Amino acid sequence: AIASIHAREILDSRGNPTVEVDVTLDDKSKGRAAVPSGASTGIREALELRDGDKQRYGGKGVLKAVKNINTTVADALKGMDATEQESVDKKMLELDGTEYKKTLGANAILGVSMAVARAAAISKDLPLYRYLGGDAATLLPVPCFNILNGGAHADNSVDFQEYMISPVGATTFSEAMQMGAEVYHALKSILKGKSYSTAVGDEGGFAPNLKSNVEALDVIMEGIEKAGLKAGDQIAIALDPATSELYREDQGNYLFWKSDESRKSSEEMIDLWASWADQFPIFSIEDGLGEQDWDGWKALTKRLGDRIQLVGDDAFVTNPSIIKQAIADGVGNSSLIKVNQIGSVTETLEAISLSQSGNYTYMVSHRSGETPDDFIADLAVATRSGQIKTGAPCRGERLSKYNQLLRIEEELGSSAEYAGTMIVKGK
Ligand code: PGA
Ligand code: ZN
Repeated sequence: AIASIHAREILDSRGNPTVEVDVTLDDKSKGRAAVPSGASTGIREALELRDGDKQRYGGKGVLKAVKNINTTVADALKGMDATEQESVDKKMLELDGTEYKKTLGANAILGVSMAVARAAAISKDLPLYRYLGGDAATLLPVPCFNILNGGAHADNSVDFQEYMISPVGATTFSEAMQMGAEVYHALKSILKGKSYSTAVGDEGGFAPNLKSNVEALDVIMEGIEKAGLKAGDQIAIALDPATSELYREDQGNYLFWKSDESRKSSEEMIDLWASWADQFPIFSIEDGLGEQDWDGWKALTKRLGDRIQLVGDDAFVTNPSIIKQAIADGVGNSSLIKVNQIGSVTETLEAISLSQSGNYTYMVSHRSGETPDDFIADLAVATRSGQIKTGAPCRGERLSKYNQLLRIEEELGSSAEYAGTMIVKGK
């Protein structure tokens, strides 16, 4: 049973406060978890409770969320069975009583929810992936490395947020790590050769001032070749243009505010993705249209859905009821899974099982603001997601997840499988 819960304010990878929680059980098992934070957040995400006191961290303190845990939540959960994740999460949802977790804060609820799962796993003497996923937890995901950052994650001229490489042609996760890192280094030297900056953005990818958005793909293709790898068969490309950040609802179009201030309609955006998919080995596009452009999403799915993975991030916000609607409406064919968008382990697992029920794939994801917490590495294996995105092979808070996956692969030994081309449509 849960003996005590203690939360504190720590700092994340952007130097902003976030919540860390310690849960201790009667048998002395201790689980710790820290909560991530996004920059390009969806409008329907659960509420991240911030203090708003401008005297501290520009209003971004989380002392209210910490206090909610140390008082209300700690009192209510004391004595509960930590292995009853659903009951624990349900109790917190009841205490909160609002759809978007506005009373306690999703950052408070999630921190406790994850720490409870960890403590329970330790108490049962099981690795977290095994505790959450049982015997089926043997599939190592394809790492989708965000090696070139733009949009809201970097101060450069690139409108689209994430250009990712996915080593689908590797045979093991560790080989995929090597391929990813080798392309990353090759890209660095190519950017250097072109006198571009090799400073990195929030997720560890390079953030050069390129001349156009498509040049990002050109330099990545060069990097893949320079690393001695084959684009397509070995390294596929995934994009997260995060276009909710470009969408201008009043005008119903997309503004390229970082590069040339041009605009595109929904139809023109779909044409752009179709032409890029013809020219480059792109297997996945996330938020190819904005969260408010649901009709555009339907058209996008009709046009590209049978050959490209179309992932809803801002569009679905890991919310089971929105994913249900998307499946019913034929919107997208894949869900991004971010634990703090919905705010509890139980609801995250629900979002995943709903995706499965609609034959949607799902990609487990970090946030742009992270800590070394590696919960999502175990979550990806536990749920057989087959894919994870957690930044470039650079910056400790990104590598903590990838390195945990290396450990899991080693621990699974001969029972480890690697998702590889399984995630590419038509392969
Ligand atoms: P965020 O970005 O964590 O800043 O929201 C990640 C994403 O859009 O996938
Ligand atoms: Zn996204």
